[in-house]
Amino acid sequence: MNQSNHQKLTCLIVDDETDIRELLVMTLDRMNIATQGASCVTEAKALLKQYPFALCLTDMQMPDGSGLELVNYITEHHAGLPVAVITAHASADNAVSALKAGAFDYLSKPISLKQLRTVVEFALKLSTQTTPQVHSTLEMIGESEQIQTVRSMIAKLARSQAPVYISGESGSGKELAAKLIHQNSARADGAFIAVNCGAIPENLMESEFFGYKKGAFTGANQDKEGLFQAANGGTLFLDEVADLPLAMQVKLLRAIQEKKVRMVGGNTEETVDVRIISATHKNLTQMMDAGQFRQDLYYRLNVIQLKMPALRDRPADIPLLAQMLLSKLCRHQNIVRPEIDAQAQAYLSSLSFPGNVRELENMLERALALSDGTTITQEDLYSHDQPAHEQLIELPNKPSFDPDQTLELCLTDYLEDIEKRAIIKALNKTNQNKTAAAKLLGVTFRTLRYRLTKLGLAKEEDAELEGEDGNTNT
Ligand SMILES: Nc1ncnc2c1ncn2[C@@H]1O[C@H](COP(=O)(O)OP(=O)(O)OP(=O)(O)O)[C@@H](O)[C@H]1O
Ligand SMILES: [Mg+2]
Repeated sequence: MNQSNHQKLTCLIVDDETDIRELLVMTLDRMNIATQGASCVTEAKALLKQYPFALCLTDMQMPDGSGLELVNYITEHHAGLPVAVITAHASADNAVSALKAGAFDYLSKPISLKQLRTVVEFALKLSTQTTPQVHSTLEMIGESEQIQTVRSMIAKLARSQAPVYISGESGSGKELAAKLIHQNSARADGAFIAVNCGAIPENLMESEFFGYKKGAFTGANQDKEGLFQAANGGTLFLDEVADLPLAMQVKLLRAIQEKKVRMVGGNTEETVDVRIISATHKNLTQMMDAGQFRQDLYYRLNVIQLKMPALRDRPADIPLLAQMLLSKLCRHQNIVRPEIDAQAQAYLSSLSFPGNVRELENMLERALALSDGTTITQEDLYSHDQPAHEQLIELPNKPSFDPDQTLELCLTDYLEDIEKRAIIKALNKTNQNKTAAAKLLGVTFRTLRYRLTKLGLAKEEDAELEGEDGNTNT
């Protein structure tokens, strides 16, 4: 396609104030974008029927209706057309309701040219790009209805700039969802910065988030950018957001609302263009009631909520997940994927997985190490940290036990037997290297040595070593 027949993109500008319309027309013109102006909702709707727009910018309050009404109208009749609203300064409510209604972003008055350019460029990426540029290698596996809903939500959220709050139990895939939203969005070329809010010491928090200027405090020998600056143009994932101290919650709220940050020791604010995704496995509503989490911040973060279902609520996904996760593990280890035999498969499907997909993943990794390389059996799946009752259920199927005798067996003996077998297998697998075997079993070297002695598996020299602190051994 050559320049002359390259169609200029057109933006619909809806505002009853002539001054603002003119400002927008001029700015967009410099960006080589054509414009059509409307001064009220009715006029805007009429234009929408006539022209194929690439973008719509609308004011919130107009003589014959609200911008929100127009956003709803566009969502319903022109799905796929990116619309952003222009809100009066500090009108958080309006911005949040517009995002909820399907606006991809908002501009606050007075409109800064920089902000306007960012929003427009983002919108144009959205309307010209139908499939994501970065082909993601990440995948949200599962065919259950719950996961299908999650996948379609992710696709929708990727087209928006709205803050997303992801809730769900530990290991249920919250971070995976956040990454997928980022990777499928127009921000995919920008950074995805994940921060564990519980891991930053409180006194360092502000400088970690917003950066600091040289000389701001002892040891600040040069300017350093913070997480917000690093995520500029990309996504900032606030993991374990419930762990933010209250004082930091206030500062974070301000940064999100104003889209501006001030470095520690700095006296100017800089505009940042960051999409916020947050997550926690804690119950934020309860924390708000207890006064531990600010309601206004919650309201800002939780514009759209994505709920990750627990694995036990979608057991139908377990077989597929197990297959796919095992394939992934084998690919990484460059080995041929063993089969999961029927009994092992049934066993997996019977578990409740309090640690969700991560637990399944860990279990398979261990089983893979313990297996003979061609088949994963139920026995390979037993592990030291599996709740005892879940193993006991399967007792009658275990070959080394005489079913008639199981009742007489006491629990300790039974567990010790499982433990012994796991340890022996791990040792055989690692050519009797205890350090490697401990790693494989997910315990420390010391624990393994202790267990060996306790279970009567230790050789003479091991028993003598008992009580000392050993780091390596073979
Ligand atoms: N549906 C899924 N398909 C494939 N892999 C998944 C799925 N859900 C989770 N996983 C994998 O399980 C592991 C745990 O997921 P993730 O880290 O996203 O959980 P989380 O909810 O953030 O956990 P936590 O609350 O402990 O931080 C990751 O390795 C992730 O890739
Ligand atoms: Mg996580």
